[in-house]
Amino acid sequence: MRVVILENSEQVSLRAADLICQLVSSNPQCVLGLATGGTPLGTYQELIVRHRAGQVSFAGVSTFNLDEYVGLPLGHEQSYRSFMHRHLFELADFELSRCHLPDGNAADIPTACCAYEQQIAAAGGIDLQLLGVGSDGHIAFNEPGSSLASRTRIKALTERTRHDNARFFSSLEEVPKLSMTMGVGTILEARRIVLLATGSNKAATVKALVEGPVSAQVPASALQLHPRVDVLLDRAAAADLLRADYYHEVEQIQRGLELQQQIEPVH
Ligand code: F6R
Repeated sequence: MRVVILENSEQVSLRAADLICQLVSSNPQCVLGLATGGTPLGTYQELIVRHRAGQVSFAGVSTFNLDEYVGLPLGHEQSYRSFMHRHLFELADFELSRCHLPDGNAADIPTACCAYEQQIAAAGGIDLQLLGVGSDGHIAFNEPGSSLASRTRIKALTERTRHDNARFFSSLEEVPKLSMTMGVGTILEARRIVLLATGSNKAATVKALVEGPVSAQVPASALQLHPRVDVLLDRAAAADLLRADYYHEVEQIQRGLELQQQIEPVH
């Protein structure tokens, strides 16, 4: 894991946008895995700014979102489909036919889950998966106890996640209880993973995912098994890390070597 501790959430967004834009420049037909929630919003805003400045085009890119609520009416403003259209797809030059989300309104959800996996495979797999992390350690909607080999499926949300996400709805009752989500195993197949975490409410989870044991009780800890993960943190989210000084030192050396283009990033 490459643990990068940055000054603030703006720096996290800029660094994530750098990584995405580098990939899109080197491979304009790349496949991005995308997340919703509050954390990636700054990154999406930065991508839009760079697109409008003529620095990047997403016209050839395909995207796959991590998850979707099950049972929200089509067009509901808190569906993840609406979120992505509102905050990213319609504000840059994405080709909407190549922007995929799980269909939380499918008549046959298990069949739709298999179809989603097949679509990802048919696109050649995900080149870069962007992730946030839940305060209970979930990635996508893989709640604690999720199999670390899980695939796209239906998953019940924990009460904690429903409370966390109630801020986007008018009441807790309105937050769906079920989701359709990529599995941990699906996520681990991405060629590169970039996890973002900001704010003090993520500090304990970040410590568990970076320095704790790999455990289905903290699904994000499965990322320790992946060979190419960048964990981009602001100071508040990094506050509980025991080895923060070491991560800083490694990062300085690493950045220096990369600037001299001597070595590939080390994770
Ligand atoms: C969203 C997703 C979730 C969020 C997580 C953090 O597509 O998959 O795992 O990344 O719940 O949400 P925020 O960023 O709102 O704290």
